[in-house]
Amino acid sequence: MRLEQVHKNEATDLAEEVMARCRKLASLSEDPNATRRTFLSPPMRDVHREITGWLQPLGVEVRLDAAGNLRAEYPADGIAPTLLIGSHLDTVPNAGAYDGILGVVLGVALLQVLSGRRLPYAIELVGFSEEEGVRFGTPFIGSRALVGRLDEDLLNVQDSHGVSVRKAITDFRLNPADIGRACVSDNAFGYLEFHIEQGPVLDNLGLPLAVVEAVAGQSRLEVTFVGRANHAGTTPMDLRFDALAGAAEWITNVEREANAVSGLVATVGSVKASPGAANVIAAETRLSLDVRHREDSVRTQAVQKLIHRAEQIAQRRGLSMRSSARMSQPTVAMDSFLSGQVEEAIRRTGCEPHRMVSGAGHDAMIMAERIPSAMVFLRTPGGISHHPEESVRLEDVEKAIRCGLQLLDQLAAALQKRTTLA
Ligand code: GLV
Ligand code: MN
Ligand code: MN
Repeated sequence: MRLEQVHKNEATDLAEEVMARCRKLASLSEDPNATRRTFLSPPMRDVHREITGWLQPLGVEVRLDAAGNLRAEYPADGIAPTLLIGSHLDTVPNAGAYDGILGVVLGVALLQVLSGRRLPYAIELVGFSEEEGVRFGTPFIGSRALVGRLDEDLLNVQDSHGVSVRKAITDFRLNPADIGRACVSDNAFGYLEFHIEQGPVLDNLGLPLAVVEAVAGQSRLEVTFVGRANHAGTTPMDLRFDALAGAAEWITNVEREANAVSGLVATVGSVKASPGAANVIAAETRLSLDVRHREDSVRTQAVQKLIHRAEQIAQRRGLSMRSSARMSQPTVAMDSFLSGQVEEAIRRTGCEPHRMVSGAGHDAMIMAERIPSAMVFLRTPGGISHHPEESVRLEDVEKAIRCGLQLLDQLAAALQKRTTLA
């Protein structure tokens, strides 16, 4: 039986199971009232245990690499190249149930359908430990380990409690000295990521699936305004050095500058003022800045302009200001052969394959540095994501499973053809 010929009821049952599993994993959280799971936080251990429990009955070997990525090997017959399938296991604060997790759980479902049947390639399922950049302000810690970019600088980055990436790894009982062994092996021929679109495009078009042509670049920075703390009741307005008021002026500038450039998005998503009391003028305000555009030059120019604006505001208000770059990731094109295969698989699943650029960042943009990578997007109802109301339709998950099975068959045929011709 060809893989895509799974019985209709079986595919629906599997899709239901995938969605139920995503919701179950969403309950494994640092926060009792919402989903929040940052890099190597205690609930990540529970997520690993849960997914391992689904994989072990399939005869799949599961391990954790030194960056906390969950790695599961579904072997081929003998020595063969490897296809990686994955996405991330961490979440933003107050997250939905599908961002990242869906791509991993869908991968488990594909291995379930294979149920021991061997392909001419092995499959490695990867649950990346970190993609969102919430804990350290620097995203993609997991996938950077697979491409050999989890370097000393990144290991030394600290979270808001002064805990470094290196210490977080040791605290999770992993050994940072083994990070080099997390690198993807030389026989990997592709990386495939299923992910919700996280935007409104497919929903507006009334289409369930898309193939991603490229993932837009992003810059992340930390910007700090420094003033002087003083009494809120006794210090006249013209004698203050208010770091929070300066930051607020800059935030409105960020919004105005982004509005003025087509396709540019710029966000200050986190503000921390200290000492943080109602009756004390803020001495220091730390802000995050996230800037994205599909043209790298537009993004980098926008970052320069926004930092210059912050300097001007600080100078006029008698404050000081500093900025530190946390990431500058260029726009990355997905692999044309693999994306063509994804497009064909979507079509053979009975859907019209829409091609689009992703505004959200994904592990695929890091993996693409090292191996051919492709992404399948699933429609996101209402375009709502990074929000507890994030959802996905059962019938779209079923189509994604069918598309995945179709793709596994196509890749098997393509590899066999290549071997026969060689
Ligand atoms: C990941 O969700 C991102 O910030 O794009
Ligand atoms: Mn996300
Ligand atoms: Mn994601």
